[in-house]
Amino acid sequence: MPVTHRSLDPGQLDRKQRYLLMVASVVPRPIAWTSTVSSAGISNLAPFSFFGGVSSDPPTVVLSIGRRKDGSHKDTARNLLDGGEAVIHICERHDGPSMVASSDGLAPDESEIELLDLATVDSDVVSPPRLRDAAIALESTRIHHREVGNGPVDLFLLEVVRFHLREDLLVDGLPDAAEMKALGRLGGTLYCDTSAPFSIEGLD
Ligand SMILES: Cc1cc2nc3c(=O)[nH]c(=O)nc-3n(C[C@H](O)[C@H](O)[C@H](O)COP(=O)(O)O)c2cc1C
Repeated sequence: MPVTHRSLDPGQLDRKQRYLLMVASVVPRPIAWTSTVSSAGISNLAPFSFFGGVSSDPPTVVLSIGRRKDGSHKDTARNLLDGGEAVIHICERHDGPSMVASSDGLAPDESEIELLDLATVDSDVVSPPRLRDAAIALESTRIHHREVGNGPVDLFLLEVVRFHLREDLLVDGLPDAAEMKALGRLGGTLYCDTSAPFSIEGLD
């Protein structure tokens, strides 16, 4: 039996259908568990899965942040526009419940980090704190911002200026995916993790 495809023109879909299609199609998505600090000094933590690596020289990542229903910036975007600094943490499977809880929209003067009682330490280079126990933390600074699409969303390119890698997860000096069980986001409330990597022969 030949395979058949359902072909969809996104222009014919409504906003919600387009969103559902995107998040179910572009999978798995890494999760940037992102701490920032407001101009009033309040630290903020929130997850974003429209996130990815862009370049390694210098190390650069991309983060895309949607707007609130009223069109205003989410706290993370506001803080990145004002201060230009963030710490992006890679979540392990056991971070899942705290990571999801940190996505609750709190007022700008409330801190998810304090509410969830997460231990932090000072970052080396940037102002936002880093989560003490995170598998990986990427201290990052904004190099580019632009609005994209009709939302619009706020797209940030961030340069990683410091990597923090938890020693117990390293194999030959690099984070080991199986040890780390890094979380990936699928559609809706579904997630996967990197506990069962496998090798495909070919280019190393
Ligand atoms: C796993 C996960 C991934 C998310 N990814 C995104 C994303 O890519 N873009 C976005 O705008 N919101 C995303 N959200 C929702 C934000 O985390 C949520 O709007 C949060 O309240 C923003 O917080 P802030 O206002 O403190 O920045 C995600 C939520 C979860 C649980």
